[in-house]
Amino acid sequence: MAAGTGFHSVRLIEAGFEVCTVDGSAEMLTKAFANGRDRGHVLRTIQADWRWLNRDVHASYDAVICLGNSFTHLFSERDRRKALAEFYAVLKHDGCLILDQRNYDTMLDHGFQSQHKYYYCGRQVRAEPEYIDDGLARFRYTFPDDSVFHLNMFPIRRDYVRRLMHEVGFQKVSTYADFEDDDKEQDPDFFIHVAEKCYDAGTEALEDAFSASDKEIK
Ligand SMILES: C[S@@+](CC[C@H](N)C(=O)[O-])C[C@H]1O[C@@H](n2cnc3c(N)ncnc32)[C@H](O)[C@@H]1O
Repeated sequence: MAAGTGFHSVRLIEAGFEVCTVDGSAEMLTKAFANGRDRGHVLRTIQADWRWLNRDVHASYDAVICLGNSFTHLFSERDRRKALAEFYAVLKHDGCLILDQRNYDTMLDHGFQSQHKYYYCGRQVRAEPEYIDDGLARFRYTFPDDSVFHLNMFPIRRDYVRRLMHEVGFQKVSTYADFEDDDKEQDPDFFIHVAEKCYDAGTEALEDAFSASDKEIK
């Protein structure tokens, strides 16, 4: 999901994964396809809006990957719930969703102090919030040629996203902070959520039921 320029698709293909490249924007898919082709890959692309994903995506997958702080592009809770439910639905029974987000909690509570450890736009690009409140994070991107680009995003908090994931049905949500265990990092730049669909509690209950009926038979 949120294939953008195809960076993650290419890296995943080169790591040996079978990849389907999805984005809502035809222009971005064209760019992703060209980038893939330049590296010797033919990307399998689907143009689909996350909110109606299952209308256009008909297979099921081991993982849904939505990186680059992309989920923050949805401005209403209704859209966020719908998109997560659609991600859930295209996953196999034991599949997982990997979704990242900027650490808006720290920005909202203490202001912006990125350590710039992790980069999505290249080391030459500065990305800083120009304005932030509970309903808007307006980021300013400054490029090496001094060109400036603005992007409006919705500042989602870490625990809010985790709660929505649980509410659409994900059984277990693990959150990493700049790729480390969440509790080891202070004020990370990014949170990475890994939401698992697998329904462990049911398996345990079934095992209990079987061992109980075994005892009854004996
Ligand atoms: C920040 S870019 C992704 C960058 C890329 N994942 C990376 O990390 O390099 C966000 C992408 O999400 C796509 N997008 C935003 N909202 C979407 C939606 N509702 N459905 C599908 N794609 C969407 C945009 O077209 C854009 O290509």
